[in-house]
Amino acid sequence: MNIITTADEMRAWSFAQRRAERSIGFVPTMGALHEGHASLMRAAAERDGAAVASIFVNPTQFAPNEDYSQYPRTFDADCALADRSGVHTIYVPHAKAMYSEGYSTYVNVERVSEGLCGKSRPQFFRGVATVVTKLFNAVQPDRAYFAQKDAHQCAVIRRMTRDLDFPIEIVEMPIVREADGLAMSSRNRYLNPEERTRAVCLSRGLFKARTLMESGERVAAAIIAAARDELKDVEVDYVELVAADTFTPVARVEGAVTLVVAAWVGKARLIDNIKFEDCNA
Ligand code: PAF
Repeated sequence: MNIITTADEMRAWSFAQRRAERSIGFVPTMGALHEGHASLMRAAAERDGAAVASIFVNPTQFAPNEDYSQYPRTFDADCALADRSGVHTIYVPHAKAMYSEGYSTYVNVERVSEGLCGKSRPQFFRGVATVVTKLFNAVQPDRAYFAQKDAHQCAVIRRMTRDLDFPIEIVEMPIVREADGLAMSSRNRYLNPEERTRAVCLSRGLFKARTLMESGERVAAAIIAAARDELKDVEVDYVELVAADTFTPVARVEGAVTLVVAAWVGKARLIDNIKFEDCNA
């Protein structure tokens, strides 16, 4: 495994790939990798001439009361998974180099980052946009691969990439689920067996709502109520139907929409979503 720890070395690696006429596919992660990450890495390895993943638990996207210090750090297993998935170069920057003494510059993506997770976790998208900008500057990829599970994050990063003229294609890969429907997440490790059983209600609610949309229901309140009906045993943060690109709530299904849910199951805050498109709208 080729481990790179500084932005200068990272840029030199990318420069060498480009000189060899290889496109660069990039998978940013915070580690604690699972099959969802593996699917992003396989896509980058298959599609791009050179693939690189980053592992960096980014302090600026966590509030002081959140799980930054407990976030699972499983570096050796992460390297093994990356290797199996066709990614043999990992960028692992040090927090002190990413945010040096006196660090003062942040990227704030207005509007699209303001609702849902942006409301519940006000520091989150500012931290994500800032670190992804820094990672893009170091890696200089042609394509960056993100998971649909973090659909709101994808919308924020797409907007930022467009607004800041990054010449990077953002590729959003489908959610990878456990056999019972639970979306794979690094935070699923926080669940005890009883919570793990309860957590499946998030996807159950979303699938029920999707069946309703497929049978012709277009009123957001009815669709949200169907999903909420399955969420009685968890502490719901939000269930919302939003426009797929702007993440603003909609009253009816028109065009492409995303039904999003966030809920606490024990000490794990889990998110999930489904996309739906009314092709007749
Ligand atoms: O989705 C994640 O793992 C993180 O938010 C990201 C994009 C790597 C930024 O820290």
